[in-house]
Amino acid sequence: MSLQEFFQELELFGAAATQRFAAAEDTAALEAARIEFLGARSGRLKQLQKALGQLPAADRPQAGQRFHQVRQQVEQAFKAAQARLCQQQRASRSAELFDPTVPGLRPPLGHLHPITQTIEQLKEIMGRLGFSLADGPEVEDEWHNFEALNIPPEHPARDPLDNFYLATASQLAGGGPMLLRSQTSTVQIRVMERQKPPVRIIAVGRVYRPDTPDPTHSPMFHQIEGLMVDRHVTMADLKTVLRMLGESYFHGEVHIRFRPSFFPFTEPSVEIDMSWQGRWIEMGGAGMVDPNVLRAVGYDPEQVSGFAFGLGIERLCMRQHGVDDIREFFRNDVRFLQQF
Ligand code: PHE
Repeated sequence: MSLQEFFQELELFGAAATQRFAAAEDTAALEAARIEFLGARSGRLKQLQKALGQLPAADRPQAGQRFHQVRQQVEQAFKAAQARLCQQQRASRSAELFDPTVPGLRPPLGHLHPITQTIEQLKEIMGRLGFSLADGPEVEDEWHNFEALNIPPEHPARDPLDNFYLATASQLAGGGPMLLRSQTSTVQIRVMERQKPPVRIIAVGRVYRPDTPDPTHSPMFHQIEGLMVDRHVTMADLKTVLRMLGESYFHGEVHIRFRPSFFPFTEPSVEIDMSWQGRWIEMGGAGMVDPNVLRAVGYDPEQVSGFAFGLGIERLCMRQHGVDDIREFFRNDVRFLQQF
């Protein structure tokens, strides 16, 4: 082969290889072209290399230089084709994987605890009746939990065995004893201490009593407290508000029954029964705010009167959903909670 023929062959090789690599439509075609042009044993490059070795020694440097240039170009073209196909493959694979018509996967959303749902409903109902939301601490002093509610030191309700008393820093420093509140009636006092009549509030929250847990008792449960103080407030107002609360909550006809009872901070006092769908259940206590309580917060019992009530929130929720064990609410078993 003359030098001229060699150059011709070399250029043909370069052009053909570059063209074939660029035109390869898949990896199989590219691999076939690679073997044909760059194959280590009998590829066309290999043959050109052999021809180069047979050129007259004087021509070899010149021929060799061009040979290396062309080889580099062709190898570059091969790599470019490889990258192009790889990219194509990736794009088509992800196009296969992403099907925009497949319905999405809904992330599992939680929901409010049934007791929280009941609380939200009660707040909403009482809000519509003009009662705003008041709040008080769960760790209380004896004044708000007992004293101001007309519960004197010798009263059995103050028995340390019936309450969760706490040894607090303030007590250790000589302050009065503190306890986990046993009723939300504490908030009545807190509101009246800082507000003049008229008062129309509810307070919702946890209360604590050292009861042994059973299907109807839990050492922690929730109450909703209502308090309305104004001129000429009567027990008829109390009964009406309770009936409207019951009917809005249960979405049906509700009857309210008062049974005579006693609470140190109301006079007269009643137990509230509510009947819905023909069954009576005990809901809590209520009464007309005792004049002693009104005086203790600086109200004039000759000018204003008021009612107060306290209902068990778990009871409402249990009655609504037919739950027969209060402990279920606090076991945190999602199989139970998911039903609401
Ligand atoms: N605090 C009372 C209880 O927990 C209920 C109550 C509230 C009674 C308001 C009268 C007035 O049993």
